[in-house]
Amino acid sequence: MLKGKFITLGVTGSIAAYKAAEVASLLAKAGADVHVIMTAGACKFVAPATFAALTGNPVHTDLFGGAGGRLIPHIELAKAHLLVVAPATANILAKAAHGLGDDLLSATILAAKGPVLFCPAMNVQMYRNPATQANIAALKRYGHRVLEPGRGQLACGEQGEGRLPEPEEIFEEIARLLGPAQDMRGLRVLVTAGGTREPIDPVRFISNYSSGKMGYALARAAAARGAAVTLVSAPTALAPPGGVQVVFVETAQQMYEAVLEHFPQADIVVKAAAVADYRPAKTAEQKIKKEGETLVIELERNPDILFELGRRKQPHQVLVGFAAETENLLANARRKLAEKNADLLVANDVTRPGAGFGADTNIVKLIYRSGETVDLPLMEKTALADRILDAALSLRE
Ligand code: PMT
Repeated sequence: MLKGKFITLGVTGSIAAYKAAEVASLLAKAGADVHVIMTAGACKFVAPATFAALTGNPVHTDLFGGAGGRLIPHIELAKAHLLVVAPATANILAKAAHGLGDDLLSATILAAKGPVLFCPAMNVQMYRNPATQANIAALKRYGHRVLEPGRGQLACGEQGEGRLPEPEEIFEEIARLLGPAQDMRGLRVLVTAGGTREPIDPVRFISNYSSGKMGYALARAAAARGAAVTLVSAPTALAPPGGVQVVFVETAQQMYEAVLEHFPQADIVVKAAAVADYRPAKTAEQKIKKEGETLVIELERNPDILFELGRRKQPHQVLVGFAAETENLLANARRKLAEKNADLLVANDVTRPGAGFGADTNIVKLIYRSGETVDLPLMEKTALADRILDAALSLRE
């Protein structure tokens, strides 16, 4: 999760600076690209060479250039995915709360576009001082994250709060902040995926080219965002996504039964499966023998699962359908949205290169009941999954 993430770690002058070396080491081992800024005070406690060795990057101490050859280091270092200050002394909290930028670290904090994670460490009276508490409150108001310091015996000999949180705790907080948003926690999401198989005889079936990639990406994305996910999957060659309840089915009728069983508990349903509209009216018990020049297989209608869900839908449930079209994309998709009483329709023109069946990418239009249509460019199905979930979330009452 942290692999390739650019993290700037600011270390200030506290006895706990040695613990920051452990934080740097954990981040580097997790594959993050860690750049350390040390204040003059920090250099009194730990040598910059320690951090350089642990991160494989030069350590920055000078506002006016220096290590790494960066001309305006505070602007470059502020472009990190996350800026972490650990340990954060009362002094750096005060400077950050009041917008001072008189050294490399405080200038980098000022230049940061996103939230900064501060991990305070100091003497208990300094921590309780109303000025420090007001500074922490101001930083939180500005959208920064300030970790609670630990309690216990402090380096100065006093007891109380002010200990730097353990490196593992800081590492976990960084991973949480850089991980996917947990904006689907508490929601139950039902996803369908893959192409159903309608048996002709014991060795043959009617199916389609669905690989399941779109539906599996949706299930995986919803689970990563904290949802409890049930994936009703027709046969695919994909590994089941971790942390997802998977119900394997083959035919449209089996998918219908499984989906209806799980539907009442679902808050959001996304129907990415390619369901056969027709099935052989009879499945031969034995393998059909090659006889005449032609063979006629009579087909009968399968249940329309999405239509049935639209009929049963409760006001709190969001129903997302797909439309795989080869012509009249918008007209057909709008008709399906209305007929099936869906809240959102994801329309893919499966004739376009990079869209639809089998590909790792897709090109879709999101069609809302309001009539609004959002054209999305070619993108990975994994990225599209998040866009569809964002749209579904925006429709919740
Ligand atoms: O699996 P991939 O290789 O990643 O490909 C992704 C995909 C192309 C299969 C996917 O993006 C997609 O478009 N899925 C829907 C395909 C489809 O069956 O479209 P449709 O227009 O025939 O059906 C419209 C909607 O009704 C779909 O949500 C479908 O799941 C649903 N339906 C259809 C028939 C039926 N009997 N019951 C249904 O619920």
